[in-house]
Amino acid sequence: MSAWHDIGTAEDFNEDEPVAVIAGGQPVAVFRLGEELFALRDLCTHGNARLSDGYIEDGCIECPLHQGMFDIKSGAPRCAPVTEAVRSFPVRVVAGRVEVEVS
Ligand code: FES
Repeated sequence: MSAWHDIGTAEDFNEDEPVAVIAGGQPVAVFRLGEELFALRDLCTHGNARLSDGYIEDGCIECPLHQGMFDIKSGAPRCAPVTEAVRSFPVRVVAGRVEVEVS
């Protein structure tokens, strides 16, 4: 079963760095690209590293451990050594509150 979880206000998220939240018991990294917000599971698919500790570059998040990169919008792998997509979660803003859908 999926559900929307409140994770704050739009102003809580900026373009400079990801924000780590817990939604539905899962670690989630939240990103802002322009006016849009995106959420990925906050765990690299290559090893035990949090993407929220990584660096944002050209719409991608660079893993802090081995510098693999994922597309922030889709979670798709973009640069070795990562080969497996990281899960992405839908994000919406309702009455000024940011919600992420986690199942
Ligand atoms: Fe993320 Fe290796 S743990 S690239």
